[in-house]
Amino acid sequence: MRDFYPAEMRLRNNIFDAWRAASLRHGFHQYDACVVESLDLMERKAGEEIVDQIYSFKDKSGRRLALRPEITPSLARMIAARQGALTLPLKWFAIAQCFRYERMSRGRKREHYQWNLDIVGEPSVRAESEVLAAAVSALRDLGLRTSEFTVCFSSRALLSDMLAKLGIPPEHRAAAFLCLDKRGKLEDGEVTKLLLDAGLSRAHAEATFELIAVNTLEDAIDLLGSQTPACEQVLEFRELAGTYDLGECIRFDVSVVRGLAYYTGIVFEAFDTARGFRAIFGGGRYDNLLADLGGRPATGVGLGFGDVVVAEILASRKPTDLSPRDALTAIGYMADAQHPTAVRLASALRRAGRNVDLALRTEKARQFFSRCARSDFTEAVYVGPDDVAAGTVRIKNLATREEQEVSLADALRGQAQP
Ligand code: HAM
Repeated sequence: MRDFYPAEMRLRNNIFDAWRAASLRHGFHQYDACVVESLDLMERKAGEEIVDQIYSFKDKSGRRLALRPEITPSLARMIAARQGALTLPLKWFAIAQCFRYERMSRGRKREHYQWNLDIVGEPSVRAESEVLAAAVSALRDLGLRTSEFTVCFSSRALLSDMLAKLGIPPEHRAAAFLCLDKRGKLEDGEVTKLLLDAGLSRAHAEATFELIAVNTLEDAIDLLGSQTPACEQVLEFRELAGTYDLGECIRFDVSVVRGLAYYTGIVFEAFDTARGFRAIFGGGRYDNLLADLGGRPATGVGLGFGDVVVAEILASRKPTDLSPRDALTAIGYMADAQHPTAVRLASALRRAGRNVDLALRTEKARQFFSRCARSDFTEAVYVGPDDVAAGTVRIKNLATREEQEVSLADALRGQAQP
């Protein structure tokens, strides 16, 4: 689990600010849920990696509980509980702390924060497009250029059509998705073994591998021999993404399957272009989850965007880009006799909206200014006996080293301009 010292906290806050701003800009409403969930809600289909990664425990009454590994089941639970009162489609977002017992590696931690954007109750690909537009706009706010990332997309419905065409019976397709998601992460031989363990015949397991030859959406259509409704949806999504100006950021990639069992339609994952990191975000359409969790049927589309990978990508770039600091004024004073003036000045500046760090001890002017030079302050005010006698203070801009003399009375009335 992570500790956040102030420097890391600043970066985390910048990421959260970008997430929140992009959510609000795209009309999403924030929700939250407790990190402790019922274990039953989290345990779904076998074969999902996430189920084995749950931190679970029993409480004093013997209830089986979990630290949530993701927030999507909680979202579905919350919507199902009030489905009659909620107007669909709804657009909700959350910044959720999630826990997964994963092997720690670059980009993977046992605890992370995940921005979730979900649209529930919209069957058309307009939902996928809005969710993606919001995520891409957050990436841009964080300073990533279009050339630096790609959103790879595919469709489980399209994959299902292709698996059907290759002769894989319907009951084996969900297992085939979860195994296909492991391609590239495991050796091909191990993936074949997983397919065989899931009940596919050797011929079907080999046929599943034929999907690798599909490089473009057009290849997929060729393999199918005709345009299925799933193809049409993917084509419509691609066209609409173009209207959103996302055309350059997205690419069809048959290898995107996703490791969660609930996805039913378009699925996507964003990667840095150099592929030096794991997925920045991932998501897709899940049209059965509400009904599976006891709600009335309602379609869903959403994504999860973690703080870890994007922070690593930002850290791999110019450090100055990372976490711009808020303006902070330092106030120091020579002797205890000037402390009341310094307190009043700090209070006036704080009331006027400035962030002020008031010294806790007396300092000589040299000490004060050398401390300021070592810290994050943007401006500094030093109150000495002569200043109090003259009724003025000097506000020093620490970047430009310019000083501005203002009347103490004006400053205390909150009229000192920075
Ligand atoms: P996921 O792909 O499991 O999807 O996670 C989404 C994102 O969370 C990943 O792309 C990554 O950024 C981050 N993430 C996941 N696990 C870790 C980890 N151990 N350490 C660091 N970051 C991690 C979901 O969780 C879905 N519930 C997303 C969703 C929402 N689908 C529909 N709505």
